[in-house]
Amino acid sequence: MRHLISPLDFTVQELDELLNLATDIEFHPDKYKNACNGKKLATLFYEPSTRTRLSFESAMLSLGGNVLGFSSADSSSAAKGESVSDTIRMISCYADICAMRHPKEGAPLVASTKSSIPVINAGDGGHQHPTQTLTDLMTIRSLKGRLDDLVIGLCGDLKFGRTVHSLINALVRYKGIKFVLISPKELRIPDYIRQDVLVKNNIEFREVERLEDAIADLDILYMTRVQRERFFNEEDYIRLKDSYILNAEKMTLANKDMLVLHPLPRVNEISVDVDDDERAVYFKQVQYGVYVRMALILTLLEINVTD
Ligand code: NCD
Repeated sequence: MRHLISPLDFTVQELDELLNLATDIEFHPDKYKNACNGKKLATLFYEPSTRTRLSFESAMLSLGGNVLGFSSADSSSAAKGESVSDTIRMISCYADICAMRHPKEGAPLVASTKSSIPVINAGDGGHQHPTQTLTDLMTIRSLKGRLDDLVIGLCGDLKFGRTVHSLINALVRYKGIKFVLISPKELRIPDYIRQDVLVKNNIEFREVERLEDAIADLDILYMTRVQRERFFNEEDYIRLKDSYILNAEKMTLANKDMLVLHPLPRVNEISVDVDDDERAVYFKQVQYGVYVRMALILTLLEINVTD
């Protein structure tokens, strides 16, 4: 049985197959509408979410399956002190597959060791968010036509932003990828990513503080929210929260085919005057997130749909 805990759980070839499947689903949704008849997906969300939880639910419903779950720790037995290990043993009796979001790094991994159904990490603390990465890869591949030879700017909270950590992990396996890491000093990428992923894999990258110094060089600009819930004090958050605001004026400095992605939710980091720019693809990205989660559910449940 397979789980998805880190983006590295799939080889590049397996990722390719998954993205091909997601693209087939995009263009032939009818073919898949009964693929998960009688199957159940449990969503175990111990942390707030709109997109990730609902896109999992939407994905399972579009496959003809059913969903059950909870959307906050307070409404589950975690509030009574139940461990993740015990909860997952229970859930294994109720569902065929589950997606778990948890504030503690590593919680979905622990769950996967006790589970008899596939566990999908839907975000663990400031660590990883592999299904957002699948979404990001599908967006880039669909709209740019490739996942190699790209200059990717990651901007905002690179310290606590789990989507950034997972995306870097996944992209270093493609050729000709260069990163520009744009963040305030306090929110730079953690050392375990800089050293163990970027340096170790000989990836070209530079770290800058000003978005204006980098934007003209980029094929992709990946904006992120400053992760308020991971800060130790409110003053630091207030000081750093508006470090970057992408607006229509800054977009004039960018290439005409640069794409702007954002995992969402956005707070202030992208001004609404960018939304109508055709390079702003963060709402399209949301739609790709459903196709890719449909493909993931089919893959982990080992369901093959033939023509
Ligand atoms: C992201 C997350 O939860 O890490 N959101 C999402 O799943 N699309 C990004 C964020 O919350 O800033």
